[in-house]
This record gives sequence, structure tokens and C-alpha cells, in this order.
Amino acid sequence: MKKIFFAIAALFFAALFAPAAQEVPFASRPPKMSPGQKIDWDFTNWPGRPLPCSRALGINLSSRIYLYKKPFSRENTSMKTIAIVTGAAGGLGKEIVKRIIDDVDELWAIGRNLSKLESIKAELAVQGAKIVPITMDLSDTKSYDSLSAKLTAESSQGIEIRWLVNNAGAGRFGPSCGFSTQEISTSVICHCIAPAALCNICIPYMKRGDIIMNIASQSAFLPLPFINLYAATKSFVYSYTRALRQELKDSGIKVTAVCPGWIQTNLIVDSLNGQKVKYPLIDTAQNVAKKAVRDARKGKALSINSLGVSFVTWLQQHMPQSLAINCWVLMIKKYIKK
Ligand SMILES: NC(=O)c1ccc[n+]([C@@H]2O[C@H](COP(=O)([O-])OP(=O)(O)OC[C@H]3O[C@@H](n4cnc5c(N)ncnc54)[C@H](OP(=O)(O)O)[C@@H]3O)[C@@H](O)[C@H]2O)c1
Repeated sequence: MKKIFFAIAALFFAALFAPAAQEVPFASRPPKMSPGQKIDWDFTNWPGRPLPCSRALGINLSSRIYLYKKPFSRENTSMKTIAIVTGAAGGLGKEIVKRIIDDVDELWAIGRNLSKLESIKAELAVQGAKIVPITMDLSDTKSYDSLSAKLTAESSQGIEIRWLVNNAGAGRFGPSCGFSTQEISTSVICHCIAPAALCNICIPYMKRGDIIMNIASQSAFLPLPFINLYAATKSFVYSYTRALRQELKDSGIKVTAVCPGWIQTNLIVDSLNGQKVKYPLIDTAQNVAKKAVRDARKGKALSINSLGVSFVTWLQQHMPQSLAINCWVLMIKKYIKK
């Protein structure tokens, strides 16, 4: 009796923890489900590679992985699925594109520079066929109308926005009084108005389980002299995103604020004021994108790229704010021209 029990237990755990079956092609995934529909565990015709023991138990491991990745129910629809990513041509945006492109039929890549967008399309070879480059300067609010118009035109065929990633951003070090009105306006529009407006433009095309990911920054949590404007606008992104998440709770749309520390991209400079800049806890765009996409899929409210950055953020929030600000100034003082 004991032997039979152990044999069954061993079989069960082998089925559960054995190596994953091959990735199931998107086109051959099971039909979309309507909200509340019960999951059908009969995967006899499943196209993945079932393991012998899992078949015996009626479990297909690849199916389990699929259900883990996409635990939400969907309406049975043949709508075209779309991802919209701003600042998609380089840095963090490009890494996010690589990780979400398989979730959708088309990925609308937004940026100011068409040749950069075309080159990421070419770089992603087969996957790149899905990329639709859209040139937009997000600091020009009129450009949002072209996105609205494109969505309206496409909506007659039926579309669903599965991902909206508000990632575009720019900034520089320096005393606030050195910023022109134009620069202030560009930064505020690009970081604050654009994400809020794009959310409003896209939400009507989103459904339960679709994802909004707004890229803020670790700088959102503290007033930071000498990247004052940048940090203040990122505070807006963080606050707006957290509140929007709550507003959209009943709709089932997932909303994540991504607050990474320093990332090795073109946004940061190598030297300032004749000094090579040291960026503590700097991470690669690949790592940040991987963590952000994973957290957003899980429906987390906040994504921070590493334990180190999480700890520093926690520390900043639990020490007197003036002390935290002074520590920051001490750290970066040497990089700022007097
Ligand atoms: N690097 C960091 O240390 C760091 C840390 C925390 C958060 N972040 C955030 O991460 C996001 C991505 O930045 P990144 O580090 O990947 O920098 P990046 O390599 O410079 O990428 C920024 C992207 O934003 C686009 N962009 C900038 N201004 C735009 C505008 N007005 N209209 C349309 N697109 C615009 C750029 O595209 P085009 O130039 O082609 O238009 C570029 O593709 C930003 O929101 C940034 O604030 C960065």
C-alpha cells in the first residue's frame, strides 16, 4: 500500500517539476475565454509536448505555464491585439519591446526618429515584422491626435490594446535656474501630460487583463536637487499611475508603476564637470525590462529592479527627508558646475 502511495506521489511530483515542455506557438494557444468561464483541464489536443507522466495524470506542463503567464479570462474574440510602446527605439524601451512583442499581433513603436524605429524593426528580424513605427514628438500634444485617429480607423476591424508602455523620457543634470522655459515645458509634457493623455486615449480599447506600464524612476520618491525637474515629473508619473490603478480596479486592467534606479542607457552621461560619474547600483536595460515586464504581467502595483534599489528607496522614505536630500547633494555636488 505504502509503495503504491509513494509511486503515485513520485509520479505526481515528476509531472509537476519535470523540465518545461516547449514554448507553445501563439497561434496554437487554446481559444480565448470569456470572463468567469471555468478553465477546461482536458488538454488532449494540446499542441505542446506533453510529458508521459503528465499525460497519464491529465496535466500538460506547457498548458500550466501558459495559464500561469496569462491567468486572466478573456472574451472569445478575433480582435487584432496591439502593444503601444513610447520611446521604443532604444534603451529600456527596446528591451521592453523584445519581451512583449510575442503577446500581440502588432506593436506600435513610438519615437521621434523614424530611422531609429526602422532599425529596431530590422534588428528584431522575424518578430520585427509586427512592428509599426510611428513618429511622434510627445512634447507636442497635437501629435496625440494622430494616435487617436489611427486607433479610431483601426477600430472598425476590432482592436484590443494589450500593452500600453509609457516609457519615453529625457532629462539632464543641472541647477533648475539653468533650464529654459522651453526645456521645462518639454519635460513636463513628455513625462506628465503624454502618459496621462495616452492612458486616456488607449483605455477605451483595453479589457480585463490588459496592461498599462508607466516608467517612472527611483527619483520619484524624493525631491532631488540638480535633477529637480526630472525627479518632480517622475513623482507625477508614480502618483498618477498608483491612483489610476485603483480607478481601473473593477475593469481588470493591470496598472504598474516602474521605478528603476540608474540604468546603463543613453539617458545618462559618462562624465560631468570633468569628472567620471559613478552611478551607484546601476543596472542593465535588459535586467530592468525583464523585471518590469514580469511584475506588470503579475499585476504588481510597483516594480523596482533590484533589492539594492528597493532598500535605498525604503531607507530614503524612512529617514528624515531633509537628511535624505542632503545625502544626495553630498553625493553629487562634485559633478555640478559652480
Ligand atoms: N537611464 C536611467 O538611468 C533611468 C532611470 C530610471 C528611469 N528611467 C526612465 O526610463 C525611460 C527610458 O529611458 P532610457 O534610459 O531608456 O533612455 P533613452 O535610451 O534615452 O531612451 C529614451 C527614449 O525616449 C524617447 N523620447 C525622448 N523624448 C521623446 C519625445 N519628446 N517624444 C517621443 N519620444 C521621446 C527617445 O526616442 P527618440 O530619441 O528616438 O525620439 C528614446 O527612445 C525614461 O522614461 C527614463 O526617464 C531611466
